[in-house]
Formats: sequence, structure tokens, C-alpha cells
Amino acid sequence: MPAHHPEPDLVPRPAKAALRPGHFTLDAGTTLRISAGAEPAADLLRTLLAPATGLPLRPSHDGQFVLTLDPQLGGLGEEGYGLTVGPNAVLLRAAHLTGLLRGIQTVRQLLPAQALSETSQRRTRWLLPCAEITDVPRHVWRGAMLDVARHFQPVSYLRRYVDLLALHKMNMFHLHLTDDQGWRMPVAAYPKLTEIGGHRAQSMKGPAGSDTYDGIPHEGAYTRAELSALVAYAADRGITVVPEIEMPGHVRAALAAYPELGNSPGRSLDVWTRWGVCDTVFGVHDQVLDFCRGVLEEVMDVFPSPHIHIGGEECPTTEWTRSVAASERAAAEGLSGPEALHGWFLGRIGDFLVRHGRHPLAWAETGTELPLDFTAMTWRDPGHTLAAARRGHPVISAYHRATYLDYAQSADPREPQAQPGGVVDLRAVHGHDPLPEQADAQEAARVLGTQTQLWTEFVTTPAHIEYLTFPRLCALADRGWSGATDWADFEARLDTHMERLDALDVRHHP
Ligand code: ACM
Repeated sequence: MPAHHPEPDLVPRPAKAALRPGHFTLDAGTTLRISAGAEPAADLLRTLLAPATGLPLRPSHDGQFVLTLDPQLGGLGEEGYGLTVGPNAVLLRAAHLTGLLRGIQTVRQLLPAQALSETSQRRTRWLLPCAEITDVPRHVWRGAMLDVARHFQPVSYLRRYVDLLALHKMNMFHLHLTDDQGWRMPVAAYPKLTEIGGHRAQSMKGPAGSDTYDGIPHEGAYTRAELSALVAYAADRGITVVPEIEMPGHVRAALAAYPELGNSPGRSLDVWTRWGVCDTVFGVHDQVLDFCRGVLEEVMDVFPSPHIHIGGEECPTTEWTRSVAASERAAAEGLSGPEALHGWFLGRIGDFLVRHGRHPLAWAETGTELPLDFTAMTWRDPGHTLAAARRGHPVISAYHRATYLDYAQSADPREPQAQPGGVVDLRAVHGHDPLPEQADAQEAARVLGTQTQLWTEFVTTPAHIEYLTFPRLCALADRGWSGATDWADFEARLDTHMERLDALDVRHHP
């Protein structure tokens, strides 16, 4: 380690870290001393190190590697931890299990990059540099959204994505499960959602509005058991899976399955094969609200996430304006007109989630239009984050010019087809502060954090997902965990971190 860089090259950067002279050696004789409640952290350490190192890391009462839950560290919060590596012992401490899970990712990054490999390495001794680290995240929400509605990915790949999030101390995996082009979550009460809504005849080639198609059917749906197992797998790594079920727009796949939920019952619709914003939206009759509540009951059974995302964005009101039934509903509810049905709809479903002890979460179009008990996910403009926080919403910044990974990451014409509209390079992600400058202390406290978005209109393979995700997700993880870090310092740490991504066979952007 060069003298000018006495901190370890970790991503995200710890709140406080210093390297010390010397090493602790992990080998077949290293044992773990595990305090009550810390066993799941020991299990994760073994699971993560086993493929490359084969180290048994057996438990023992006088183990040199100590994993301990210590309520006195409560000041470090849910995810903070302390790590001391000395020549003869390692001490990892946290007040909560999640803190230990974060610390284990730090241990993993301190080891030589080959320790992250999924194949067995020849080495028998693994050197951990001596270090003193005290670490806490700046933001409580450090997420990644993956759209599995436009293009489905098997749950085996979602597990790998979770592992890559965990490496970066991310804590929210937002799964975009439904959209106009596909419904991926099985619902026992409405089996046609996946039987019909899980298949589309073909996909548009090129961006929204281009009228050519690939002629290739696309399909996919998870089983309930797969999703439950994914939730457990993520929880073992300290990650919450946040499900998103879109309503009242972005529902064409649901309407293909159950046309009676739309505004023109009897009209048969296909699962959408186009990209862009679809005019076809849910009707506002009681049957639709019952449907949404029924679906969300099953969603809540599978996903213990405190937050349930109900989409909410890009909902054209053309159908409601034309519909006599919708106008009558608006009048009966005392609304100013059919346009106001959007907020009314979200409010009804939000109330239902709140009654079930969950926080409703939705994409904010302006930051000031959502019902007050919603958590707002702002995406169109950074000003919307401040507007939402001022209004009293907890808010997550998903500003598209800094967090949308479906934009190209460079202007190089050899970049694969990307969402038109610009470039989001590594520096744009790294430079995005989710916290608006003008926010006062109370408003700032409402800004929970930030997350990446990967919409998958043009993204069909895991290799392409990883190309778009890395290293941009590393920059967001750094921002979310560490706050503002110096660009040159981030670049230097990222250089080393790339060796870790390579050891994991992440097919990242060069
Ligand atoms: C969005 O980009 N549809 C939130």
C-alpha cells in the first residue's frame, strides 16, 4: 500500500479506516469465536469465502476471529460496525446482526481479490492487512431497481445480483415485477396474470415509436416458492427485496389477462409489444380496487418489506376523461374531475397498505402530488426531492440523469443500444447528491437515500445487465454509504475494486 494512501481501497469507502503494519493470516487452522446471535454472520462469512479458499472457519471458544454482537455499539445504528484486524486476532463488532453482515463484506474486500472468486484457488494462507475501521452508512436507503417485466431474468440470476449488491453494502433490491409488457409475480387468486400476462408475442426493435418488431415471443414468471427463497437469500445478506406492482397505469399485461379491469370491458387486449407510455389503464370501479388489494395481499405474504411500491407514474387520463363510468366515479367521490382519479386511486390503495402496517411507495411525478402517507421516489427532476421532503414525504432520489443505468455510459458509438436521451457516465452517478442543498435539517432527515434503476427494454442478458450496472453501481454505493467522496480518491479505490469485480467474473464496462 503506497504511503500516500494509508486507507484500504474499499468500495464503498468506510467512515473511518486506517491500515496498520502487519497482517492476520487466515488458514485452515483459523477458528471463529461467535457470540450469541452472531451465528448468521459466521455462516455468511463461510459461505462467501468457501468457493475460493475452502477454509472451514470452524467455531471455537478461543477462536482468533471474533464475531460479536455488542449492544454498547448502538450508536453505530442498524448497519454500523467496528473492525479491528491485528496480527493475532480479528474483532468484528456491531450492535445489530446487519452491522456484522456489512463488516463481513469489508473483510472480504480486505483480502486479496482472488478470495472473491467462485472457483477454488491454490493458495492456503490468506493475508488480511491489519486495520482499524469504524463504519456507518450516511443513508438508510441504498438501492438498486431491476426491471424484470420488460425482460425476465431467472431467479438464479437475481441471486447473483443480490450478491453483487451485498458486496457494495447496498440494502434494498427493488424488483419491478409488472408492467405493460409482462407480469412476473404469480397470484393465486388471479392465475391468468402470469398465464396470459407473462407472455408477449414479440418486442419492439428500437426505441419507443419505432415501428419494427423482432418477431420473437418473450415469456417468464417466477413461482411463489422462488420469490420466497429469494427474499430469504437476500435477508441472509442484509438486503430487503422491495416488490413493485404497477398501478393504475403500466398495467396492459394485467388487462390482457383480465380485460374487465379496464375502461372498456369486453375489449380484448394483447400484452403490449411496444415500448413507451401506454394509454390503456385500469378502470376505477370497485372490482379494480378489490383486485389490487387481493394482489397486494399475496405480495405482502411473500415480501416482508416494510415498503411496498405501487408504481403510480406515467398514467395517462385519456381513458378516464372519455369514460362515463369514470366521470361518475369522480363526481361520486367529490373530485374535481377524472384527472383527480389518479391521486384518489393511489390514496385508496395506500390506505389499504397502511392498514396492513406497510409504507406505500410510488414514483413521484412532481414531488407534490402523492398522498401524504406515501414515500416518494423522485425521478424526473432533482427539485422534486426537495419539494417532496418539504411536503413531509420520506423520499428516495432516483433522479434519472444520475441513476438510470439504461442510458449509455459513454457517447462512444460502439455502446450497445441504450435508452435514448443522453449519457449517464460514472462521474454523473458519483456526483449525484441525493440530499438537496437547500434542504433544512428536518427536510434532510426525510431524504432516505438513493438507488440505481435498470429498465430493460433493450437489455436481455445477464452480461448486458452487468455491463450497464458496473461500475456505475459502485459509484452510487459510494455516494449512498459514504456521502461525498473525492473523485480522484474514488477512481483510485475503483482501480483496486475492479480486480474484485474481475475475480467475480462481473462483465463490467471497461
Ligand atoms: C419511470 O422511469 N417510469 C419511473
